[in-house]
Amino acid sequence: MAILICGGAGYIGSHINKLLHQKGYETVVLDNLVYGHREAVKWGEFVKGELADESEIEAVFQTYKIEAVFHFAAYAYVGESVGEPEKYYYNNVVNTLNLLKVMRKYGCDKIIFSSTCATYGEPDCVPITEEQRQNPINPYGATKLMVERIFKDYAKAYGLRYVALRYFNAAGADPEGEIGESHMPETHLIPLVLDAAAGKRADIKVFGTDYDTPDGSCVRDYIHVADLAEAHFLALQYLEQGGDSDFFNLGNERGTSVLEVIEAVKAVTGKEFSVICTDRRPGDPAILVGSSKKAERILGWKAKYAEIETIVAHAWNWRKHAQF
Ligand SMILES: NC(=O)c1ccc[n+]([C@@H]2O[C@H](COP(=O)([O-])OP(=O)(O)OC[C@H]3O[C@@H](n4cnc5c(N)ncnc54)[C@H](O)[C@@H]3O)[C@@H](O)[C@H]2O)c1
Repeated sequence: MAILICGGAGYIGSHINKLLHQKGYETVVLDNLVYGHREAVKWGEFVKGELADESEIEAVFQTYKIEAVFHFAAYAYVGESVGEPEKYYYNNVVNTLNLLKVMRKYGCDKIIFSSTCATYGEPDCVPITEEQRQNPINPYGATKLMVERIFKDYAKAYGLRYVALRYFNAAGADPEGEIGESHMPETHLIPLVLDAAAGKRADIKVFGTDYDTPDGSCVRDYIHVADLAEAHFLALQYLEQGGDSDFFNLGNERGTSVLEVIEAVKAVTGKEFSVICTDRRPGDPAILVGSSKKAERILGWKAKYAEIETIVAHAWNWRKHAQF
């Protein structure tokens, strides 16, 4: 029996692949390498394949006995999704339907899905709990919410069993430094600030310092990628032990402001760099912090690497020696 990791050559999926390997699972990564890195798949089997092509998914199910699927494969650039929604609805929704179709055909009924806090849109209040209204404000968030809805319908009609994990801001890198974050293009704050520290960027821009937050800059919930990996493993165990289909927030419940991230990078790296405070960007809520109490209660999960300095230190350690 093997676990299929769609999108396992990407940032988060590669960390789950490593953890599953350490836990003794056989894994198969399916990734088209559009954004992923072959070098990130250091454990288990690798198949270069495309979810848009059902026959390529089916070839994996013919070769391996797949017990459960982790589904990370998606496009995730919020800004791009506004300009090119078609690209996002096809890859994130239609290609998920292809995957579910093949799973049904081969009698595989368990899936763990990368959803996002972007399904909530502008929060009614923080910390955001799972009960809050989901009202995405961009096509990317809408695609993820749509997949959650598809899961509910497939669970009822076909007996699909799923866990949808709504991540806040994934950050950090493997504490052992073997893999880490390498998006191209990079839009996430911590790697961008680290690039400024490393002299690879001229400066770092802070979009808005007049928000209603303690230091005026936006506050986000950074969750260590190793903590995310642990939550995925627990979700797999939960489904294996007969747990009901469900959805969970995954955040570390601490808000960290943009200016605090910049200070943490300066403290960890010992480097100075130029910080430019500029106007707010449209569509950036002041504070996005999640409540992970439900995951704590039901999955027995709690973030271990909650300190922003630790998250930044692991990311920096990886970036100094990164091979991809
Ligand atoms: N990074 C975050 O902070 C964050 C937050 C919330 C949710 N998510 C979600 O988590 C998942 C993983 O995010 P990530 O940061 O690791 O992204 P990533 O781009 O590093 O990984 C996604 C992987 O999927 C592959 N892929 C995409 N479309 C494919 C297709 N049609 N067929 C085969 N492979 C395909 C890409 O090549 C890539 O390796 C995504 O679904 C994303 O929406 C990420």
